[in-house]
Parts: sequence; structure tokens; C-alpha cells
Amino acid sequence: MTQTTGSPAIQDSPSWTRLILDSIADGVFTVDKQGRITSFNRAAERITGFPKDEAIGQYCHEIFRANTCFEACPLKHTAETAETIINLEVNILNRDNKEIPISISTAVVTDESGNVVGAVETFRDLSLIKELHKEIYRQYSFQDILGRSKPMLKLFQILPDIAQSDATVLIEGESGTGKELFATALHNLSSRQDKPLIKVNCAALPETLLESELFGYKKGAFTDAKKDKPGRFRQAHGGTIFLDEIGDMSKGTQVKLLRVLEQKEYEPLGSTKTEKVDVRIIAATNRDLMEMMHRREFREDLFFRINVIRLSIPPLRERREDIPLLLDHFIERINLKQSKQIKKASPTALKTLLNYEFPGNVRELENVIEHATILTKGIEIQPRHLPSYLTRRDKEPRGPADLRDKEDLAVLDNIERDLIIRVLEHHSGSTAAAAKELGIHRSTLWRKMKRYGLLPQ
Ligand SMILES: Nc1ncnc2c1ncn2[C@@H]1O[C@H](COP(=O)(O)OP(=O)(O)OP(=O)(O)O)[C@@H](O)[C@H]1O
Ligand SMILES: [Mg+2]
Repeated sequence: MTQTTGSPAIQDSPSWTRLILDSIADGVFTVDKQGRITSFNRAAERITGFPKDEAIGQYCHEIFRANTCFEACPLKHTAETAETIINLEVNILNRDNKEIPISISTAVVTDESGNVVGAVETFRDLSLIKELHKEIYRQYSFQDILGRSKPMLKLFQILPDIAQSDATVLIEGESGTGKELFATALHNLSSRQDKPLIKVNCAALPETLLESELFGYKKGAFTDAKKDKPGRFRQAHGGTIFLDEIGDMSKGTQVKLLRVLEQKEYEPLGSTKTEKVDVRIIAATNRDLMEMMHRREFREDLFFRINVIRLSIPPLRERREDIPLLLDHFIERINLKQSKQIKKASPTALKTLLNYEFPGNVRELENVIEHATILTKGIEIQPRHLPSYLTRRDKEPRGPADLRDKEDLAVLDNIERDLIIRVLEHHSGSTAAAAKELGIHRSTLWRKMKRYGLLPQ
């Protein structure tokens, strides 16, 4: 390697410094104590579009016109406090008034005696990175569903054909994996997209109510039936009906559903007249229907009618590659909702998320991020902002042995019951708000309330 000592005279000369500054890819400029630009390198000219001669002598806010210029000027902050700022993302306007995202770092400039004479800022053009980011989103999203893992990309590939086929689809997946999102995508990609998509949660209603909900009733069918009411099947005519949590449907309702599937007809409650409908059926469940069928809890004939095309959505822990993508997506969404400026999770926080099992899948991840963003004051989510159970569980030995003990299960049940009561009390009995806080679906909450005897008699 050749030595690059050179003479000190050359290294100290202003032209040498300028040469170095002009050769680097990052924009660099300096300001005096009043905020007037005193130097401006070539990359700064390229990124902002302003030639050096135009920039020098101007106040930096006149050149950069960033969103931070008047509220929280980073250079002013550095000049006043001598604190450096590293990699802060701001948007500036270039000479053509086009918004350019840049990342800036600042430092104070002192004279030989250590007096502050101004500040220096280096900045990097993030346009390309942002474009690439968007491209990744485009590549890894499909009808609002994000995924880059192999199983998800495979699902994206087959989705259009399944949607077009008009066949009955059974969507299987644990709670919070995105079953409803897939059902919506199937409808939107089908030829029925302009017709209604009607969603019915079969777990949320007791048997008699579910039947009248699905098939409607005639005036006088029961005491409160003051006039005819069309059912959900009628409303979905020409479109799609999404039967969520179909595994929770009673056997009586299963028979009636089977008839709709076989003959495309049904009778509203209290009616002797048969009605015809044209609907496509998409069903979803987080239970093992096959096993339910073996236990005779789910009708075999109905199972085979529904199980024409089966979409299985893998749990998040089996596609951890999707976590960073989903994380960015939820941060962005929450930033908009809460007017925050969070950019990302720190590497350690991300590692914690990647190591966690996510029994509640994507919905749980979404809730975890919401929790973290409330606590995050800066631009980065740190491990301390994450709910503590994420790290605690991680350290515990995993495996079925932990929960096998009956006593343990009883203890867990008690904790869960207490928690549900407390959260319900806190939200004055609103199941929607309580379910949100608990990070579970409302129907899951209903199920648990039923199990713990918390439903009004
Ligand atoms: N792949 C994904 N990309 C983006 N958002 C997702 C994805 N999967 C799930 N979500 C989000 O996670 C949440 C849960 O999804 P969804 O309601 O579709 O799940 P589910 O399987 O129907 O849950 P449950 O069994 O509890 O009813 C929603 O807010 C949804 O937008
Ligand atoms: Mg659902």
C-alpha cells in the first residue's frame, strides 16, 4: 500500500478540504451561528438542485425548506447545545419543489479556542431507498395482504384462480392469521366483486338467532317478529357470504346450511315458501373440522361440501420472515393514526419479536406494536417498549410439559377469568372494547365468557 502522508500544508489547505468534500456522495454544508450557509459541497448541489453560488450566504431554511425547519431545526439545536444528531429523517423540497426524503446528521463547528462558530450537516438522499421500499411492498403485498415467506407467496399465486372458480372455499388458520383478509381478497378478485360480501360470525350467535340471521323470518314467526326480515343469504344474493367460525355452528343449523349448498334454496323461519339464492360461500375456522367430524360434532356431508378448496394459512411462527414486513407496515399505519414519527424497531427489539411464538399471530403482532408505539418517544422502538411477557416467555422452557398439569390449567383459567372481568368492568361491559384490549377477537371473548359463566342468563 502506498503511503498517503503528503505534506501537511496540502492537507490543511482549503482547496484540499473542498476536494475531499466534493468527492463524497453525501451532501455536506456548514452554517454560521446565524444559520447562514458558509459552504456547500457538490453532492449538496445535486440533491437540492441549488448551485453552490446560490446557496452560500442564504439562511439554510431558505434552501432546504424542510418539515423541521421552523419547529425543531436540528442545526440550531446542535449549535445551541453542542449535541450531535445522527440519522434523523426529514423531508426537504428541492429547487423544483419536489419533496425529497433525506437522512441528516449534525455536529458543532468550533474555532481553535473551542468557541462555537457554527454547525455542519451531512445528509443522504433517501429517495432511492424509499422507492425500493415501496417496490418491496408492491412485490410482497397482495390485496392488502402482506407476505414474503414462501407459503404466503404461494397463496398469493393461487388466489386469483381460486377466486375466479366460484367454488366453495374453506379457509383454515389459527386465530389472527388473516382469514378474514383472505376471504375479502377472494371476493374482490372474483366476478362477484360488484355484489355484496356479507360476513356472518357463526360463533357470536346462539342457534336460534343464527338461523334467523342467516335465513331471515316471516312476520309472526315468533312473538317479536312484527314484520318480514330478510336473512343474510338474501342480502348476499349475487355476491358472497363469508361464514366465519363455521366450526361453532350447531348441528341443526348445519343441516339447513347443507341444503343451501346442495340445492341453493332455503326457507325463512315461519315460512313454507322456498327461496332460491345465488351465493358463493367462503367459510373459515380456527378449529380442526376433520377431527370434529370424526368426533361427530361436525356433519360429514357438510364437511365434504365445504371442503372443496381448502386454503390453509400458516401461523406466524412458521413464517417468521413476514414479521419485519408486517412490523414496518403496522408502524407506518400507527404513525399515521397517532401522528408519530417512529421509523423502526431497534435490532434487539426486532430480535425479541422474531423469537416470540405469537400464539395470537398477526393480530397479536399488531397489538404489540400498538402497545410499543404508545411508549416510544423517539424514532426507534426499543426492547423496553415491548410488553414484558414477550421476553419473559422467551426465557421460559418451551414445551407441552409446562401446561400439562391440571392444576396449572385451573390456575391459568382463573387468571384469565379475572382478567376478563377486570377488562370488561373497565370498559363498562363493552365486549368490543374489552376484546380489543385483550387482543382477541370478539367472538373468542364471547366463547370465553360463556365458558367462564360470564354471559347474562
Ligand atoms: N398478511 C397480513 N398482512 C397484513 N395484515 C394482516 C395480515 N394478516 C393479518 N393481518 C391483520 O391482522 C388482523 C387479524 O386478521 P384477520 O381478522 O383477517 O384474522 P382472522 O384469522 O380472521 O382472525 P380470527 O380467527 O381471530 O377471526 C387484522 O387487523 C388484519 O388486517
Ligand atoms: Mg376472523
